[in-house]
Amino acid sequence: MTTCALFTSYESTEPWLLEFNRQFPHLNVQDWQHIADPQQVKYGIVWKPTEAFFKRFPNLNTMFNMGAGVDAILNNPAVPKHIDIYRIEDGGMAAQMNQYFSYFLLHYFRDMDLYQQQQPQKQWRVQPFRSASSFSVGILGLGQLGAQLAQHLQSFGFDITGWSRSKKQLDGVTSYTGAEELKPFLKRTDALCCLLPLTPDTQGILNHQNMSQLPKGAVVINAGRGKHLVVDDLLKLLDENHLRGAVLDVFEQEPLPAEHKLWQHPKVMMTPHSSAQSEYAPCVKKIGNILQAIADSKTPSGLVDRNRGY
Ligand code: NAP
Ligand code: GLV
Repeated sequence: MTTCALFTSYESTEPWLLEFNRQFPHLNVQDWQHIADPQQVKYGIVWKPTEAFFKRFPNLNTMFNMGAGVDAILNNPAVPKHIDIYRIEDGGMAAQMNQYFSYFLLHYFRDMDLYQQQQPQKQWRVQPFRSASSFSVGILGLGQLGAQLAQHLQSFGFDITGWSRSKKQLDGVTSYTGAEELKPFLKRTDALCCLLPLTPDTQGILNHQNMSQLPKGAVVINAGRGKHLVVDDLLKLLDENHLRGAVLDVFEQEPLPAEHKLWQHPKVMMTPHSSAQSEYAPCVKKIGNILQAIADSKTPSGLVDRNRGY
């Protein structure tokens, strides 16, 4: 029987264990602390595992990251270099991201920020009409989440573009790639949506140089990772009125410290890393199917390329 050790840093392992037992009763998935013979364990199912986890299971050869982003696991010195790492592709997160970005994009596109400012002044003023096709939404990262967002947003009639490493053929989406196409992509983008993985190449990509290429009045929405954003550069561009607003779901330090200046900024809306959460049923299904594919000597998708960093 395949034994898998389950570790979560932020919640009880119980709902995950129940879901594994429901969908894959033949798999022996157990809380990492309750496994009687740790030497036998080859598979880990983890979110932000500690050093103690790796000490307890010296014979691990495959790990499943219970989320989409693998930056934490790849930057964890305790993770042995020979271990294969699979990540969750979608796992119910794409639909949540679609809701999250739609909500905030419509907020700005329909001038809700301006109406919120007008209300306390008792101002009855209709903002000028703008066609959806003139509102350009640029998505940084057209992977599992970004590509589905690009498709979803088309129902609003927005002009949709995306930036990725490789060229994409997605209906209705203008694809930009590489460093040389970043500037033209940014120059036409009214709402910049970040869904990139955090890698050495993407760290700090939301900096002054790049965000100042956006047209005046643009907005930035970051649901990638906190380290994509240079916070002081964002605040400068907001305070100079180059940018109209920002929505931040992710932060370099989480939880965001109480004294952080972002909490008070009138043009910043924030959520506590809640734009999309790993959903038990689809994530367990993905992991179970990958384990089955490995057992059948097939090549499942979701294997992390350590050199690429995602
Ligand atoms: P993914 O499928 O790996 O997609 C990543 C995309 O980024 C791909 O299109 C990739 O290009 C592009 N990319 C990577 N490095 C690039 C570079 N240097 N230049 C240009 N494009 C680059 O990842 P995903 O599943 O969509 O998830 C994306 C990220 O969202 C995660 O890594 C995580 O940080 C974040 N996330 C956040 C939350 C949250 O709650 N806030 C939840 C889930 C995920 P190619 O297609 O050409 O490879
Ligand atoms: C959450 O941030 C994830 O990467 O799944």
